Amino acid sequence: MSAAAAGALSAFYRPQFFSALTSTNDEAKRQADAGAPEGTLIIADEQSAGRGRMGRDFSSPPGNLYMSLILRPGRPAEELARLSFVAAVALGEAIVNVLPTAEVSLKWPNDVLLQGRKVSGILLESAGIGRRDAWLVVGVGVNLVSSPAHLGAQATSLVEAGWYAAERDAFLPRFAGELEQWYGRWRREGFAPVRVAWLRRAAYRNERIAIRLPQRQFTGTFADLDQDGTLIVLDENGASQRVGAGEIFRIAD
Ligand code: BTN
Repeated sequence: MSAAAAGALSAFYRPQFFSALTSTNDEAKRQADAGAPEGTLIIADEQSAGRGRMGRDFSSPPGNLYMSLILRPGRPAEELARLSFVAAVALGEAIVNVLPTAEVSLKWPNDVLLQGRKVSGILLESAGIGRRDAWLVVGVGVNLVSSPAHLGAQATSLVEAGWYAAERDAFLPRFAGELEQWYGRWRREGFAPVRVAWLRRAAYRNERIAIRLPQRQFTGTFADLDQDGTLIVLDENGASQRVGAGEIFRIAD
């Protein structure tokens, strides 16, 4: 790949391009452990063992974007998970930029939806939290030209949504620019502006949702996002429930 795309990235980034990897997160984690600096960006044409949240596979054929960024924010552990919202907001902005009339929404905790269908995934992994050498890897996959057939209408791609020029060289610098900006903002101003931007595009707000937790499932109304990224749901008794981790689904009308 392309020196052109590498040249379009700011000096914050130290990109490395691979034709194939098991997972860009694996390579980024290996390099982070070996001391690679913040801004190291691992990009692969395809992944043979791409990973999603909750131990799922992330199908990774050629043509889409698979990347992992090493960050060393030097912040308390409890703040770091909020970087998934930083990545989701940046991704939403980059997609709106190329598809201005498309409906882009953000599904808690960190999916980006295009016309209500999943177009990307974000996977954060970290180590050494609390230590000075702590690192965080932000892994992002974006369906540029294809989405997994087995997901059918649940998933889509930028090409399917109408951006016929969806090429990695064209998308990566846009997304990288947004990500650097939002990361900088989070560092300077904290989570508050990220939360506002995320809520502006939040999917299913004030709608009935099912919340799937590791041990149980319940239904309620998505009311708000707390100052720390926790989802606030009003359950069927009207009681406020805080959800720190899990998955949500819209309940069809
Ligand atoms: C999800 O939707 O469950 C998260 C998917 C994250 C996929 C990206 S692709 C680049 C990076 N490498 C991986 O193995 N996973 C992330």
